[in-house]
Amino acid sequence: MKGVTLPTETVFVMEASPIKFGLGATDEIAYDARRLGLKRVLIVTDPHIAALGLPERVRALLDEEGVKADLYDGVEIEPTDRSMEEAAEYARQREFDGLIGVGGGSALDTCKAINLLTTHPAPLLDYVNQPVGRGRPVPGPLKPLIAVPTTAGTGSETTAVAVTHVLAHHVKAGVSNRLLRPALGIVDPLNTLTAPPEVTAAAGADILTHAIESYTTRPYNARAKHHPPDRPAYIGANPASDIWCEKAIEYVGRYLRRAVLNGLDLEARVYLALAANYAGVGFGNAGVHIPHALGYPIAGLVRDYVPSGYRTSHALVPHGVSVVVAAPATFRFTYATAPERHLRAAELMGVPTAGLSDREAREALPNALRALMRDVAIPNGLTALGYAERDIPALVDGTLKQPRLLSGSPRTVGGTELAAILHDSLHLW
Ligand SMILES: [Fe+2]
Repeated sequence: MKGVTLPTETVFVMEASPIKFGLGATDEIAYDARRLGLKRVLIVTDPHIAALGLPERVRALLDEEGVKADLYDGVEIEPTDRSMEEAAEYARQREFDGLIGVGGGSALDTCKAINLLTTHPAPLLDYVNQPVGRGRPVPGPLKPLIAVPTTAGTGSETTAVAVTHVLAHHVKAGVSNRLLRPALGIVDPLNTLTAPPEVTAAAGADILTHAIESYTTRPYNARAKHHPPDRPAYIGANPASDIWCEKAIEYVGRYLRRAVLNGLDLEARVYLALAANYAGVGFGNAGVHIPHALGYPIAGLVRDYVPSGYRTSHALVPHGVSVVVAAPATFRFTYATAPERHLRAAELMGVPTAGLSDREAREALPNALRALMRDVAIPNGLTALGYAERDIPALVDGTLKQPRLLSGSPRTVGGTELAAILHDSLHLW
């Protein structure tokens, strides 16, 4: 076969961080730090998680086993390139041979950025994906990073991505390189019990969009053949990522309402923590598409929306809200590319789909999403986030800056189609 050029991809890759999962898994963190050869670590967290005491407990557990730890608790929620640079500047004054991120996606992604910027110093924007940044490849291995998520959402403990709000461009963008993947994820559902209902709902929406986007993205074998060094981390839907995504969709459909209603519902918290990790494995390999591409400017262009439950006084759209808000309209748009997958996703969310007319079938997944969003009190459209029809051109411009994500759409999508999806997302019910 050598020398034969195949027109489409025939190979897929599955990569994921090793995961330690379970109630009380955090108690074993010192053992794992030592196993990874760490003697002095930097714990990275945000002030709210720090106030709840988990990072200090991690430091005490490490100390008992002779692993020294410094604590950085200055992570900004929905971090910016500036806040990540500041965190890296703090870290450069310390000595450490590994990092431990404790928190939601903001803390874990900032931790990844610190690891990158202190190991291979350069401006963060050099590493941010084009066209927002320069897309410079990560030059070599990073320090071991242990990720301890406190929300069931991002799946950052297993992914090769760190997302930042690039202030100069008013848009979110990612650094993605497999070398960013944590050496270990410690997923302890007990750490998610403190997440308020609004945070639980938004994070759960993020899980669901990760899983459904990865399930419906253009399949790996419908993409161009890559040479091994050029094969991207996001390779398209494939038989392995499908399995992880299906389970994640099912668990969110079954347990998100329960966890939002009662944060101490341990069974619901366990399955959502699993779902977040499963969806992370799924999208960390298959990749997301239109809803996440739209979510970046929806979060980046925020004017005055201040979410409740987030203990912030400045305007921000939580990541999970920013990506799910256009998901119903997107999956109506992509339905015809793979009706069976869209129907299967609705079924996994608990909606029966047998005997539906063509029109009802097309609406099954958008309706399932809207019903779940309504039940967990996600804002009911772009208007509720402070946007109006006149903002659509700017949102389209910001979305077109995410060509890496848009290329995953199973259907050709340009400015006109994006504007139509945004228009349909102004009021969801
Ligand atoms: Fe996400």
